[in-house]
Amino acid sequence: MINQSLIIGLIFCLFGIQSCKKVDSTTTKERSSSLSSVEHIEQKVTRLLNQMTLEEKIGQMNQYNGFWDLTGPAPSNGDAAKKYEHLRKGYVGSMLNLRGVENVRKIQKIAVEETRLGIPLIIGFDVIHGYETLSPIPLAESASWDLEAIKKSAEVAAEEAAAAGINWTFAPMVDISRDARWGRVMEGAGEDPYLGSKIAFARVQGFQGSDLSHHSTLAACAKHFAAYGFAESGREYNTADIGTSTLNNSVFPPFQATVDAGVRTFMNSFNELNGIPATGNTYLQRDILKGKWEFDGFVVSDWGSIEEMIPHGYAKDNKHAAQMAVNAGSDMDMESYLYVNELANLVREGTVKEAYIDDAAKRILRVKFELGLFDDPYKYCDAQREKEVIGQQAFHEASLDMAKKSIVLLKNENQLLPLKKQGQKIALIGALASDKTSPLGSWRIAAKDNSAVSVLEGMQAYTGNQLTYAKVADVSLGKTKFTEEVKINTTDKSEFTQAIAVAKKADVVVMVLGEIGYQSGEGRSRTELGLPGVQQELLEAVYNVNKNIVLVLNNGRPLVLNWHQEHLPAIVEAWQLGTQSGNAIAQVLYGDYNPSGKLPMSFPRAVGQIPIYYNHKNTGRPIMPTPSTVFWSHYQDVENTPLYPFGFGLSYTTFEYSDLQAQVVSTNEVNVSVTLRNTGTFTGKEVVQLYLKDHYASVTRPVRELKGFELVRLEPNEHKKISFKLTEKELGFYNNAGDFVLEPGDFSIFVGGDSTTNLQSKITL
Ligand code: NOJ
Repeated sequence: MINQSLIIGLIFCLFGIQSCKKVDSTTTKERSSSLSSVEHIEQKVTRLLNQMTLEEKIGQMNQYNGFWDLTGPAPSNGDAAKKYEHLRKGYVGSMLNLRGVENVRKIQKIAVEETRLGIPLIIGFDVIHGYETLSPIPLAESASWDLEAIKKSAEVAAEEAAAAGINWTFAPMVDISRDARWGRVMEGAGEDPYLGSKIAFARVQGFQGSDLSHHSTLAACAKHFAAYGFAESGREYNTADIGTSTLNNSVFPPFQATVDAGVRTFMNSFNELNGIPATGNTYLQRDILKGKWEFDGFVVSDWGSIEEMIPHGYAKDNKHAAQMAVNAGSDMDMESYLYVNELANLVREGTVKEAYIDDAAKRILRVKFELGLFDDPYKYCDAQREKEVIGQQAFHEASLDMAKKSIVLLKNENQLLPLKKQGQKIALIGALASDKTSPLGSWRIAAKDNSAVSVLEGMQAYTGNQLTYAKVADVSLGKTKFTEEVKINTTDKSEFTQAIAVAKKADVVVMVLGEIGYQSGEGRSRTELGLPGVQQELLEAVYNVNKNIVLVLNNGRPLVLNWHQEHLPAIVEAWQLGTQSGNAIAQVLYGDYNPSGKLPMSFPRAVGQIPIYYNHKNTGRPIMPTPSTVFWSHYQDVENTPLYPFGFGLSYTTFEYSDLQAQVVSTNEVNVSVTLRNTGTFTGKEVVQLYLKDHYASVTRPVRELKGFELVRLEPNEHKKISFKLTEKELGFYNNAGDFVLEPGDFSIFVGGDSTTNLQSKITL
């Protein structure tokens, strides 16, 4: 990455901007004192808006990328000189990918001190699962089902990023997805709208805190509105074509949860939805979001998505694209350059109502006021704080805690895990075991390469055993960048012999295999979900000499693991766990932390089963226990069920569920209780999950749906009664008119440790 300060300096020289120019600071001061804090923000917004020219209002709706970190294709019509010219004129409302106090301050200074009205910029950045100190990828965090921990992780991310001059994150991504081929499942909370909504709420609370104007909180952004996760065939940016019921009951709920949590911004989406690009979609942005949900923050487009309405086949040209985006309720243009170039003319011609521009500008200004940027535009630009806060020990501790909670134990035969701490010969095999970058995932713009603790380092901290490491050839060929395709090693097996020799002598072999960090994320769809490259061959070669294998998976999406489940005694799903990855994995392997994670997405048996999700419909010819004909909904070659179901995850201890009671209190209230006992020998945590089946309804309901969960910690032999209350919110659903209804009828309630639990009770409402 090019040094940002250097480039800023150069550009400043080139264009003759004096970064330390004496400015009319009284203007800024007067303005902030006249806009006293007693005045309501709405009045301040209106007063400011009344002073603005049409071009200045449109300027607020224009967002430019900084000049260094690209997180999308570089637009053909963008150049640095133009950006500076626009900045000085007050034609830029926001910058993204600008980071570091010094850099942000320099640019903010132009906006505040050189423009006519001195309106500060809002500085956006993809703070997805951390800034420099990274937590697990969001999919992994979701496997914790620990809402407090997830909220804390977002809080930490906000504090660290805000110390680097940032005040707005493009997170959380709350897209539901049922398709592991799609690389961006790593950034979401998985397949379930109930869990997804709870997590979405927690993340917004974590980022925004209770005071948005505090210097350590960020404005959050719910993205991508909507249905981005339903891209056909899992191919990135592809078309989404889904029905009303799925939209209302699966796609919308997590977005609505962010509005309930007070999220201040939304991002629309690259995909078209049922023939209309999300960016130009009036139904989504005006009718649902700003109408029905009464959202009063602003909507930013995705990178270049306004212009992309042309190749979508929706807009005729640039002007048409700008017109349709703004009319549909897209308030800010990220890197299309179309609002700044086209909107003023469109308003003058009467094709776009000025009221829409006023509304958009107002929404943006409102958030800027709430962030406290008018009181102090440099409140996120404290160099001393930046030095003290970034990389703090406390952040590493939080990252480690979150990482341990995110690990899912998929198999543990004969209690191979936890590993004994003394007297063992352990072979550690696989290039990912010493990889200090892949655990950071693909959203790691501000994190340093090689800054994660590797599994090798984590295991080296346990000195009672003899640990031998065989790296074997890298999974990828050479270094990969955020913007580049990963090239996988499919031929180099030269170091297999060494790995086999090490494995032969070992009591236990720990193999760390999976995807490198850049194999999941934006633009990283896959059609095969096995272990990439020569890793499967390596695994089988090692297995031939030593079957005592613990497979530790590092990956950003569900994989197909049939061979592994059949042959290997122990499998640990360790995702991409962030900066403290290796320490978390070692502590779980050695039993200093008892895993409690549960899968937030189903793991298929075959790619051909995708989309696969637990809350599917029953069909008219559902699965038969002993089928006598072919005429039922099935495949000839693979079972219908996933290999590992949603909600699944083991522990070093065992749990027993009993005494399920469901009591109907009224037509819209049901009390449920169950007893959970720790029947094993370790203290452990269990995610008690409640699923509901509505047997018949005016719109068919899924075979079961998650409607409650609780994370419970029990000592060996301890038991606890867990209670749930189901209200209209859990018992009802959206019909195809978009109305939320609760229909009387028969329901089954299931409670257990995953989505296949059979412990059930029937009720009638
Ligand atoms: C495109 C991604 O889809 C979006 O999520 C991200 O926030 C922007 N690029 C900015 O990097």
